[in-house]
Amino acid sequence: MPLRAPPHRLLLLLVLLVPALADVPDRYSSPRPGASAGARLGNAPAQEYLDPTYPAPRPPPSTPSCVVPVLSYSFANTYGAPPATAAYAPPAGCPAPWSLVALSFSAAVAGDQYDRVAAVWLDGAELLRTTTAEPTPDGIRWTVRKDVTRHSAQLRSPPGGVLSVMLENLVNDQYTGVYNVSVSLEFHGAPAYLFDAGSSAGAGAVDSNPPTPTLPQSYFQPADLILPISEATGNSSGFWFRIQNSSDSRSKLVTIPSNTYRAVLEVFVSPHSNDEFWYSNPPDLYIRENNLTTARGNAAYREVVVSVDRHCAGSFVPFPVIYTGGINPLFWQPVAALGAFDLPTYDVELTPFLGLLVDGKAHEIALSVVDGIAEWLVDANLHLWLDPASSSVSAALGRYRTPRLSITRRYHSRLLDGSFQIRAKRKSRLSGWVKSSFGNFTTEVETEVEASSLVEFTNQGRNKTVRLQAEQGTEITVRSSETWKEVGKVETEAKFPLWLEMVTEDGENGTYVMRANLTHSLRVETDAEAERLFERETKLADEQAAAGWMLVRDHDVLDGSAATVQAYRYSDDAGRYERAIDTLDGAVLSDNVTESYRVLNLNAVASPNARCRGRRCNGVVAAKCSDIAAM
Ligand SMILES: *[C@@H]1O[C@H](CO)[C@@H](O)[C@H](O)[C@H]1NC(C)=O
Ligand SMILES: *[C@@H]1O[C@H](CO)[C@@H](O)[C@H](O)[C@H]1NC(C)=O
Ligand SMILES: *[C@@H]1O[C@H](CO)[C@@H](O)[C@H](O)[C@H]1NC(C)=O
Ligand SMILES: *[C@@H]1O[C@H](CO)[C@@H](O)[C@H](O)[C@H]1NC(C)=O
Ligand SMILES: *[C@@H]1O[C@H](CO)[C@@H](O)[C@H](O)[C@H]1NC(C)=O
Ligand SMILES: *[C@@H]1O[C@H](CO)[C@@H](O)[C@H](O)[C@H]1NC(C)=O
Ligand SMILES: *[C@@H]1O[C@H](CO)[C@@H](O)[C@H](O)[C@H]1NC(C)=O
Ligand SMILES: *[C@@H]1O[C@H](CO)[C@@H](O)[C@H](O)[C@H]1NC(C)=O
Ligand SMILES: *[C@@H]1O[C@H](CO)[C@@H](O)[C@H](O)[C@H]1NC(C)=O
Repeated sequence: MPLRAPPHRLLLLLVLLVPALADVPDRYSSPRPGASAGARLGNAPAQEYLDPTYPAPRPPPSTPSCVVPVLSYSFANTYGAPPATAAYAPPAGCPAPWSLVALSFSAAVAGDQYDRVAAVWLDGAELLRTTTAEPTPDGIRWTVRKDVTRHSAQLRSPPGGVLSVMLENLVNDQYTGVYNVSVSLEFHGAPAYLFDAGSSAGAGAVDSNPPTPTLPQSYFQPADLILPISEATGNSSGFWFRIQNSSDSRSKLVTIPSNTYRAVLEVFVSPHSNDEFWYSNPPDLYIRENNLTTARGNAAYREVVVSVDRHCAGSFVPFPVIYTGGINPLFWQPVAALGAFDLPTYDVELTPFLGLLVDGKAHEIALSVVDGIAEWLVDANLHLWLDPASSSVSAALGRYRTPRLSITRRYHSRLLDGSFQIRAKRKSRLSGWVKSSFGNFTTEVETEVEASSLVEFTNQGRNKTVRLQAEQGTEITVRSSETWKEVGKVETEAKFPLWLEMVTEDGENGTYVMRANLTHSLRVETDAEAERLFERETKLADEQAAAGWMLVRDHDVLDGSAATVQAYRYSDDAGRYERAIDTLDGAVLSDNVTESYRVLNLNAVASPNARCRGRRCNGVVAAKCSDIAAM
């Protein structure tokens, strides 16, 4: 992934590491071994790669739609270059509000190349973090489609803006793959019935009996303003912050409108270089005692922390995304590892902190990585909802106590064998009230992050087992500050177990053979309800199991065989979608899809509930629904 140093540095490292397996997993480049040895037809169609991790954006029926092609660019030797940019303007034929805006990122590449990280920003606010698939000589292509409706405020703001795409690639005699990327935005208008009943005024105002206030409709719609928490020099070196170590906190000063009544921070992260496989890193002690040269250390726990004016405001263990050159690249042909094409984002509810933020002055929002080593690409978008009927709100943070991280480490090692266990837990409980023209509401955020990690070496360090079990539960409760009655609640449970077993054997002529088994899953359940507005449940369970071997010299895969099965299940109030894919040595053996969706019932739709029902909830580690964002 994007390293500040060119890749030959990696190759040098490896010479010393063939038998020292602390450095496995690693990243490899692999044109599919043998795949095109026989028939390299000049015009063989590029194979399509897949990443069924999130439900595809599903436009509502019979609404006007427009596609705006924004950028096309060939990323060849783009290392250290500024991002590619293009002007963006909203489509004249499909004015806001939109029921769905989908971003499409399509890529095609042929030859030999490493996986690369890429991102798409609009005026410095990130829309998509993605990584590329590794090409074959015949070529591959894929498309990522992501729901970016929650970015409506930015997308509609005249006169438009600048869309930037960064993809640092290196092309030379050996690594020939040039990534051809095109980005477009697809806008779906709102069916009339969704937007004419009631404006963004408080639903409570419509129904004043009983007197308990309810949350306004606008609370569940895309934010009114989005402020990027990203690198100011982004137009020259990318908008992401490059975090190098655990004390490296990157921040931005922001001044937010005094009439903000809700705030959610959407965080994008991807680990690279020495932390690409953070979940499998041994402690430094093991590396030192064995005189290893790897820099992939600092043990296997990481947590991303968000702070507001130095108050810890939220944290999460990042979902361990495996890029397509990782562990065994043959696993990821043609199904990418979970989230590799659309990395999960994490929402942190900052409404309780509005008491600190609405004074019209500049405040610091900072991002850091517990135990992180070089390097993490991190940035965020601050989504703000504004009170349409008043120029300022009053707000206060409740009693604040720093949520403590408790962490236990149990390390045993003897030469190259060792067992490194970590248990970590952080619980936090925050609250704050905001009085706007909609009423006085108190937001309580309760979060529990729990992780256990095991990295074990046996057989003189030749066998390695990795187990990570991370769980995060978040409960956001909004109450009327006067009556204490609950008016809205979002509960999110995310779990992502990872299990990995690797065995390495020396081969001839400086080669080695690596056999690996992996199971990996992403499970997220979200329950959301708002008094008299809606109720919704989403469930996502995505699992991959892969097994195979490969023969490696340096970082090149010479031969191998691998099988991957993926089982994807998603359901929400509108229906369910299941997909099971079976692959072997780069070919899809079966790809079974079962889906059932209810057609929107117009009567139901006419009620305010439709606003949320009509738009799906993209459950990620966060409830990524543009309506209720929780984490
Ligand atoms: C990428 O674009 C260039 C220039 O248009 C074209 O020559 C090349 O064939 C494209 N590569 C792929 C893999 O589509
Ligand atoms: C980046 O933006 C700044 C300020 O808008 C401008 O002065 C500078 O020329 C831009 N640099 C690039 C490489 O576009
Ligand atoms: C952490 O990284 C920052 C930014 O690169 C650097 O200034 C600082 O010296 C580093 N701290 C440690 C302890 O390595
Ligand atoms: C590491 O290097 C030191 C100094 O060269 C040597 O004394 C020690 O035996 C080495 N340890 C191992 C495990 O090879
Ligand atoms: C190492 O892995 C091999 C292959 O799976 C297995 O046969 C062997 O028993 C393992 N050795 C140890 C010490 O775990
Ligand atoms: C809002 O409610 C809180 C909690 O009940 C209360 O302390 C605060 O004074 C109220 N704010 C206003 C402006 O009424
Ligand atoms: C190892 O390399 C030598 C010299 O390059 C070559 O003659 C020999 O065939 C190779 N052996 C294998 C098993 O690839
Ligand atoms: C992978 O799983 C298979 C089947 O369970 C087993 O035979 C093999 O030893 C495992 N390999 C490793 C490296 O654990
Ligand atoms: C797909 O369905 C076929 C026929 O029912 C079945 O044989 C196959 O195992 C299924 N594939 C997967 C990955 O579930």
